[in-house]
Parts: sequence; structure tokens; C-alpha cells
Amino acid sequence: MENKAIYIETYGCQMNVNDSEVVAAIMQQAGYGMASELAAADVVFVNTCSIRENAEQRVWGRLEVFRQQKRRNPALLVGVLGCMAERLKEELLEKGIVDIVAGPDAYRDLPRLTAQAGLGQKAINVLLSREETYADISPVRMDKNGVTAFVSIMRGCNNMCTYCVVPYTRGGERSREPATIVREVQELFERGYREVTLLGQNVDSYAWADVKEPAKVVNFARLLELVALVSPQLRVRFATSHPKDMSNGVLYTMAMYPNICDHIHLPVQSGSTRILTLMNRKYTREEYLARVAKIREIIPGCAISTDIIAGFCSETLEDHEATLSLMREVGFDQAFMFQYSERPNTKAARHFKDDVPPEEKTRRLNEIIALHNTLSLKSNEQEVGQVREVLVEGVSKRSAEELFGRTPQNKVVVFPKNNCDIGTYVNVKIIRCSSATLIGEFMHR
Ligand code: 5AD
Ligand code: SF4
Repeated sequence: MENKAIYIETYGCQMNVNDSEVVAAIMQQAGYGMASELAAADVVFVNTCSIRENAEQRVWGRLEVFRQQKRRNPALLVGVLGCMAERLKEELLEKGIVDIVAGPDAYRDLPRLTAQAGLGQKAINVLLSREETYADISPVRMDKNGVTAFVSIMRGCNNMCTYCVVPYTRGGERSREPATIVREVQELFERGYREVTLLGQNVDSYAWADVKEPAKVVNFARLLELVALVSPQLRVRFATSHPKDMSNGVLYTMAMYPNICDHIHLPVQSGSTRILTLMNRKYTREEYLARVAKIREIIPGCAISTDIIAGFCSETLEDHEATLSLMREVGFDQAFMFQYSERPNTKAARHFKDDVPPEEKTRRLNEIIALHNTLSLKSNEQEVGQVREVLVEGVSKRSAEELFGRTPQNKVVVFPKNNCDIGTYVNVKIIRCSSATLIGEFMHR
């Protein structure tokens, strides 16, 4: 099998990006090399997302491209990994083009599945696990900046939001052993990385009890502290926080360690308590706002970002207005905004009617986006004149003479080069902004 090269394409969330790095590590250990482009590959893996229908449509489009590549190279093996693999299972093999199907908990089996497919037998493993966290695997970093990295701390989700496929495609929640997380972060720091983002579907429910000391549970606040202690030179971020679970303990830990970035991703989904109940989010509008107030009390200046769904089942204009007013009240620094997309077999698909017409969903979404743009412009304008510590991540896409990085609040800053090195911290004065980017000038290292 040696010398065969794999090419990995990744769609969807940050967790998928990290999973692809785990897959690369597993395949390299089994003797495969990495191809830098599809044309040079013997095996192509597409790591997929099922969260909304358009995410799946994009992957079907890619599979057509792989079909054409297979005409040029009939030995090419095509593998579908991740959430779509888990959701569609054998159905993917029936399309002819796909040779390998592996769900999110089956990646250790990929060398065997690939070998089997190489013998002309279609190969599938979509078993979900209650234990798998890939804890012992050091992901092969494919992001080329060498400065920022994702580290998974848990997998799966137990929340059962009614619109969401994730609990079905990624299985139940399980936490990764803290010692393996800290070791991975230490190794990254030694290799020059200066920022880690701890990833989980709901980081606040992270919990690890050692069999030898079952009374000593490591919760998320403690894990965050252990990671922050790796080095004061290492920035720590995390996502995603669930409003129903985020503890004050996490906020006090953030306030205590300057290297934990002042930014919380806290998806609200809707500003209407009635819709939140239908979504099974387990908090009210008022409880969400109370969490935000607590964040601002304990960590003044903390950025808050969110996810919003427009046009969920039975959403009225009044519910939609409630979302807009909540947005105004909070003033989110960043938002990921979507129209509701019914996903097969979720509770919402089984029990509720997807009754907001598509054009109305789009209209509401556009209203949400327009409001967010004015709000984020306002939030960025408040940055003008401030001096922020920026971790330099790379050369700006717009100009080779400029660098970009982010502030602790996760805002992107572009500024002139001034001989600054990638992977170092610089103080930058913000001089201008748009709703998406801050423009700065270099102050000092
Ligand atoms: N339709 C639209 N958006 C969804 N999300 C999850 N499921 C759906 C769906 N069926 C959004 C939520 C979640 C983000 C990752 O994706 O806002 O927080
Ligand atoms: Fe889906 Fe809710 Fe779990 Fe997030 S918390 S992955 S939206 S079920």
C-alpha cells in the first residue's frame, strides 16, 4: 500500500477540519502519503457536513467532479467521510461513484476500508462509538500557517435540539482525557503554534472523571485553566458554548488568565422564547440575556458571537421581530446566520411543519443579515483608536505588503508589514474599519 497518496477535502465546521487532520495522521501511520491536488491522488476523501441541505448539495457536486477524475484515473478510490456518510450510509455506495463510506467514529478503520476498496470491494463502516475520542492521535496539521490550531476536547452531542442532525450523525457526547489534550497543546506550542481553539459541540458539558479518582471531575473551567497554564505566550480560544450550560466558573477562569481570549461563541438561534422551546434549547430569551449580562459583568469588553436560524417551523413575524430586538439588545460582534433547513428524521422533521415559505425565510434572513451588518459596523467603529494585541497569522490576501491577525476579541485586523514575523504578537492601533475588518497601524512588538 505504501506510496499511495491521499487527497482530503473538508466541508463544514471546525470540528471537521480537525477530523481531517486525524484522518491524515491515521493514513500516514498506515504508510500513505499526502497528495497536494486531486489529480495526483490515488485516494480522495471528502469529509462532509449534513447540517443544512445546501451543505450536502455541495458535496454531491464534488462527487460529480470525482466521477470525471475517475474517468481519467480508473484506479482512483473515492471515500465519503463524516456526517453525510453517517446519515446516508449504504445509499452513498449505490451511486456507483463512492468506494468507501466511513462515519465520524470509524476513522481508525480507514486503512482497512481503503485496502478492501482497493481489491474492488465496496467498504463501509458507520458504527458510532460511546468511547472514541481519537485521544492518542496527533493530528497532522494541514493549515499551513503554523500559528493557530484546533484541538478537539470532546465529540458528539446529547442536546437534541429539534432541528439538528448532529446527535444522529456524530453520536452521543464523550469527553477526551485531559492529559492527552494538554500534551497535544504542549507539543503544538513547542512547534511554534501560538493559539489553540478547543473544540466541542457543547464545551460546557465537558467532564472527565479518572477511574482511579472518580470524585475528582475535571470540568470545562478546569480544563481551560490547564490549557492556559501551558504557556502565557499561548492564546486559548474555545467553541461552542451552550447558553443553558455555560457556568460562571468558566467566566471567572477567563477573567483570571489573560491568555484566554475575551470571546465567547454563544449561539442564541432565536430571540423568541416560544421558538426556543420548540427548538428544545432549554433556555428562555430572558435567561439568554441574563447570561450575556453576566459575561459583561465578569469580563468587561468580552466579544460575543452567535448563530441564528431564520424561519423555523411556525415562526411568526412577531417571533422574527423578537430575534431582531434581541440582536439589537446584545449587539453581537459576529454572527453566523442561516435559514432553517429541514433535516430528515430530526424531531422537527417528524413532528413540526416546515411552514414558513422559502421566500419568506430568505426575506427574514436578509433582514437579520442587514441588521447584523449595521451592528457589527458599530461594534467595529468602537475599536477605532484602540490599541489591540494581535497575533500575526499571515500575509493579507489583498496585499503582500500587509499582514493580518486577530485581536483577542476575534476581530480580523489588517496592517502594514513593518518586518513583523508571522506567529508573533504585535500591538496594533486601529485606525479605520468596515463591518468585516479592522485596519490598523503597527505600534510595537
Ligand atoms: N437549519 C438551519 N441551520 C441549522 N443549524 C443547525 N441545524 C440547522 C438546520 N436544520 C445551525 C445552528 C447551529 C449551527 C452550527 O448551524 O444555528 O448553531
Ligand atoms: Fe446540534 Fe444543538 Fe448539539 Fe449544537 S447543541 S450540535 S445545535 S443538537
